[in-house]
Amino acid sequence: MPSPTGRDDPSCTHIAGVLLDWFSRHKRDLPWRRTYAPYHVWISEVMLQQTQMERGVEYFKRWIARFPDVESLAGAREDEILKLWEGLGYYSRARNLHKAAQEVVNRHGGTLPSSPEALRALPGIGPYTARAIASIAFGQDVCVVDANVERLISRLYDIGLPVKSRQARDEIERHGADLLPEGRARDFNQALMEFGSLVCSPRNPACAECPLADCCLARKNGVQEQRPVIVKAPSPIYISMATGVLVNDGRILTQKRRADDVWGNLWEFPGGVVENGETPDQAVVREYLEETGLIVNHPVPIATFKHSYTRYRVTLHAFSVTLLSSPEELALQAAQEHRWACWSEITKLAFPAGHRKLVHHLLNDPEFRAKVHP
Ligand code: ADE
Repeated sequence: MPSPTGRDDPSCTHIAGVLLDWFSRHKRDLPWRRTYAPYHVWISEVMLQQTQMERGVEYFKRWIARFPDVESLAGAREDEILKLWEGLGYYSRARNLHKAAQEVVNRHGGTLPSSPEALRALPGIGPYTARAIASIAFGQDVCVVDANVERLISRLYDIGLPVKSRQARDEIERHGADLLPEGRARDFNQALMEFGSLVCSPRNPACAECPLADCCLARKNGVQEQRPVIVKAPSPIYISMATGVLVNDGRILTQKRRADDVWGNLWEFPGGVVENGETPDQAVVREYLEETGLIVNHPVPIATFKHSYTRYRVTLHAFSVTLLSSPEELALQAAQEHRWACWSEITKLAFPAGHRKLVHHLLNDPEFRAKVHP
């Protein structure tokens, strides 16, 4: 196999050797690396998608303390799982972990399968996660390609195609497979990811200290900062939302979102998108009627909160509202469940980011806090 520079010295074996050596000396002490228990590797790989390592470790420890094995996860209530996931975003990951745990218990006798094909058949396990578990937990000789590996290989081999194109993906996978030393997939795949994250970083890669600098084609060509080639992300969409906090008899009205909606099965205060030509306080009154059948009025601004999900940049306008109709008129129109909740219940429910910020705001306001039963 030719080396990236086309010179005869650094072969795939040389590159793999350098990476394995680097990993043995610099690998981070991560909780799932103590035993590489398949359940731990699985949870860590799902958590680390779209999540920074430090945050992933913090959530991983809490998760394992509460759900130490696949049986405890399979038998848990989804509300509790979502609460533990609260703040990580992309909640379908948590819902799928739950469903997959039930399948592992019911169909695989509680043991996670070891082949990438059988792993892929489980909910929420795509090609990346299947290969990561198969190699890291079970030592199978398959290569994994995440964003760190894409960057490292695009630079080593100076791949000038858009990194998400079919052709570039194929090329990267081919190089990954060629580099993979037989029998060393667990360490090698983690070495690729960790080296990509810590040395061959997106901006200001540490080329001066890089043990592969000599055989990096992008560096030789002076284009390491332009690799990988990223086609500009679609521009963000800005939206305004309005929500209303309604207290009646010492309890706040909350609702559970429908399972098939964005933030499915998470809880929120009624509200929705501010339509064109509408002000946020008008929107909150309209949304209340549409979503709950209740007539509210006199919206008093509490605060605004900003948060993002996928391409959306949301400004959430929060109001406190007054009930004009009878609470008996509450009807399920947009949600799957309503609950008049006191503080101890509220703190057990999982809310999407904007509403979670609102809950913290309310808890830190002594006057508001006193209006609701503990
Ligand atoms: N990113 C995702 N999984 C990883 C792992 N096992 N090691 C290092 N970085 C990772």
